Amino acid sequence: MNLEFDIVSGDFSMAGRASSQIKKVLKQLQVEPKVIKRIVVAIYEAEVNVVAHSLGGKLTALFDEKGIEIELKDNGPGIADIDLAMQTGYSTASKQVRNMGFGAGMGLPNIKKNTDELAIKSKVGVGTTLTFRNYF
Ligand SMILES: Nc1ncnc2c1ncn2[C@@H]1O[C@H](COP(=O)(O)OP(=O)(O)O)[C@@H](O)[C@H]1O
Ligand SMILES: [Mg+2]
Repeated sequence: MNLEFDIVSGDFSMAGRASSQIKKVLKQLQVEPKVIKRIVVAIYEAEVNVVAHSLGGKLTALFDEKGIEIELKDNGPGIADIDLAMQTGYSTASKQVRNMGFGAGMGLPNIKKNTDELAIKSKVGVGTTLTFRNYF
């Protein structure tokens, strides 16, 4: 099964749409609650990043019998230094975004912590592709 969601830049009210839809599917598949929680946290943080830091993109979820693979592909500024971006507390979020309660610099570290496999590809001035996988 495949699911696709568009993610609109700047629309924080819609961040969480993909993660909550996917959560429903995982519950239907009777995936362990602990595993569901990890997947939902990772997807939510990744959605927020596309909303906050890119010009918009698309999330694709691929389900198979062993687990789920999530890809988020965005157009945007990209990430110049991925190792730096992965560090706890590092954030380039605007003051406006911080005032909305985002931009603590915990998103990428949380994605890393809550996924079984994670790959980030990014090209400055073009965009970012985040791919991760969790096993059921
Ligand atoms: N999709 C993205 N496009 C461009 N930059 C990104 C993207 N995702 C993350 N980043 C960069 O990585 C930094 C760290 O991300 P994260 O750990 O989620 O913290 P936060 O979102 O709170 O800033 C961001 O501040 C931003 O500079
Ligand atoms: Mg973030």
